[in-house]
Amino acid sequence: MVKVSPSVMCVDTGHIEDSIRQLETAGADMLHLDMADGHFVPNLLLGPDVVRWLRPKTKLPLDAHLMVKNPGDYIDLLADIGVDYLSIHAEACIHLDRLLTQILEKGVKAGAALNPATPLGAIEYVLERLDFVLLMAVNPGFAGGKLVASAIRKIADCRKMLDQQGCSEVPILVDGNVSFANIPKMVAAGADILVAGTSSWFNSAAPLEENVEKTKKAIEEGLKMRGGIENWGLKIGD
Ligand code: DX5
Ligand code: ZN
Repeated sequence: MVKVSPSVMCVDTGHIEDSIRQLETAGADMLHLDMADGHFVPNLLLGPDVVRWLRPKTKLPLDAHLMVKNPGDYIDLLADIGVDYLSIHAEACIHLDRLLTQILEKGVKAGAALNPATPLGAIEYVLERLDFVLLMAVNPGFAGGKLVASAIRKIADCRKMLDQQGCSEVPILVDGNVSFANIPKMVAAGADILVAGTSSWFNSAAPLEENVEKTKKAIEEGLKMRGGIENWGLKIGD
């Protein structure tokens, strides 16, 4: 139902291959690859050579998140390396429809990513091109960020927009501060794929197995609350 995409930027870089095996055993549905160029976000993360190295080492789908200023420069390269999901930031694209089409033509699942402050209207007229939507729940670029106040409300609004436009099957991937405390609200609001980073699977307070179990419980809790979001007696942005 709800999938988990652990973030490769959070693995122990000295033992990447062992870490990937552990994530597979733990039940990862895909692997989230944050790629940053130091311009779109103030950080440098996972370059194409790392993805090329990783591709033959796992059968898990690779979910590449391009946090770069010129995403169009990397679409063919990453598609040829063999990523399965590719998200590009709407804020970085002058021609979003064109680039999403380019991703689809390469046979890769196309996603539009939105920073917390970017309105959902930025993707309203490219819904026909989307295999998924990536919503940043923190300001992007670093692990360990804090949930922005509007993140849960935005997930709920996005789910509503997708449903109203006949795109109920388009999943929402939520990235950033997907913590044990935030997961129930995110899932209740309509998150379908969760990026697991330092807030959950890579939480340093407990071993991976324990973190995976806590994540599962939090997802179940969120699924039970689905549909009843208006009746929680809580402000959903809390
Ligand atoms: C944030 C990254 C995430 C990050 C999420 O820009 O895209 O993948 O690793 O993990 P935490 O749980 O640390 O926010
Ligand atoms: Zn990401």
